[in-house]
Amino acid sequence: MNVLIVGAGGREYSIGLALKKDDAVEKLYFAPGNGASDALGENISISDFTQLADFVESNGIDLTIVGPEGPLVDGIVDIFQARGLAIFGPSKGASQLEGSKIFMKNFLARHNIPTAAYIETDSLEKAYSFINTLQAPIVVKADGLCGGKGVIIAQSQDEAKKAAGEMLSGNSFGDAGTSIVIEEFLDGYELSVFAICDGKDFVVLPAAQDHKRLLNNDQGPNTGGMGAYAPTPLVNDEIYHKLDERVIKPTLKGMEEEGIPFTGVLFIGVMVVDGEPIILEYNVRFGDPECEELMPLLKSPASELFYKAAIGDLGSATIEFYNKYAVGVVMASKDYPYKSSQAAEIIIDDIVHDNIEANAHISFAGVSRGDDGKLFATGGRVLVCVGIGDSITQAHERAYMLCGQVHFIGKQCRTDIAYQALKLEE
Ligand code: AMP
Ligand code: GLY
Repeated sequence: MNVLIVGAGGREYSIGLALKKDDAVEKLYFAPGNGASDALGENISISDFTQLADFVESNGIDLTIVGPEGPLVDGIVDIFQARGLAIFGPSKGASQLEGSKIFMKNFLARHNIPTAAYIETDSLEKAYSFINTLQAPIVVKADGLCGGKGVIIAQSQDEAKKAAGEMLSGNSFGDAGTSIVIEEFLDGYELSVFAICDGKDFVVLPAAQDHKRLLNNDQGPNTGGMGAYAPTPLVNDEIYHKLDERVIKPTLKGMEEEGIPFTGVLFIGVMVVDGEPIILEYNVRFGDPECEELMPLLKSPASELFYKAAIGDLGSATIEFYNKYAVGVVMASKDYPYKSSQAAEIIIDDIVHDNIEANAHISFAGVSRGDDGKLFATGGRVLVCVGIGDSITQAHERAYMLCGQVHFIGKQCRTDIAYQALKLEE
């Protein structure tokens, strides 16, 4: 099978690594890929969806996997499906679960799926009167895609009103913020849960935990994610069961009833409050860096999982995961997340430790390749060091040993990834 992966990040690289290990996969393509993915497959620089579909047809590509939300929300799946091409990801209609927070919140309400109390509005007056009924902290969210930055946790009613005013006037997020959601603050612990769906059937992956803040102890600005681990011991069978029954099944049924069946990865942002999973948000793609830890835990062939989901045949697949743990530590460039940084050469020490060689690897993201084959850090999040082990403690140790062998000027990484789980293992 020949497979095309759409995207350029560490997430797409890790899907590539999983497919590379899969005997059923002959050739991999990335569109556009990054400076390291050319070692796994061929990078192609086509972004127009119709031209990409032409490329897929003329190169005998059997399956396309879409990494990021942008092309999904813009309808790449609809264009491929209209031409009879197998593609893993939701349609434009189904991608509204991520593309519009108002659609998502109203969908959850219509189908009785637990979420924070909220209103959606484009009126400042309505926003103010709802804010007056809430106690701080108060959460204010722009409706549209804002690259993960459209959520303000206001520490007072005044701050919430200011945030709502700035969004509604178009000052903070342009058109993405001209409608907003205001909701109650949920106090609990956060999980990233992923369900691979084929419209009707689904497979739940081991639950992960991300670390969104830049600095240790969850301090500093929000980022795309500075590290993650899976499976998290913060989830038990009861929570998985509640997620299946109260969240995933009603979501798939509801989407089907509404004429927009969901195929692809449903990324469920969950807050567990007093043992109850409450939905913070849906995304319609893998989390990054969560994907980098989940892919190595997949024991079944990755091509089977993605292909069967894409063609609506997940029911015939038995998907297995290794009974192991993965910890991923993001290395970001000097000025992340504020601005782009100067390119810096990446130097990776020769790995001499057998344990690291066999149980840790790098998923490359924001890198480019120089003419001499050297890799340079060029992006915000440059790479993820992933360690695998029989415990989180062991996976953590291996990930950080690998981190110690990777060097570039200005590198930043958190040193406390998986701290909540490590405390439980002590
Ligand atoms: P979202 O993009 O909706 O996931 O929001 C980004 C982050 O804001 C989440 O990962 C949470 O950490 C936080 N957040 C969003 N909504 C709430 C809420 N209702 N209560 C507490 N924290 C929230
Ligand atoms: N790591 C969180 C996200 O991908 O949105």
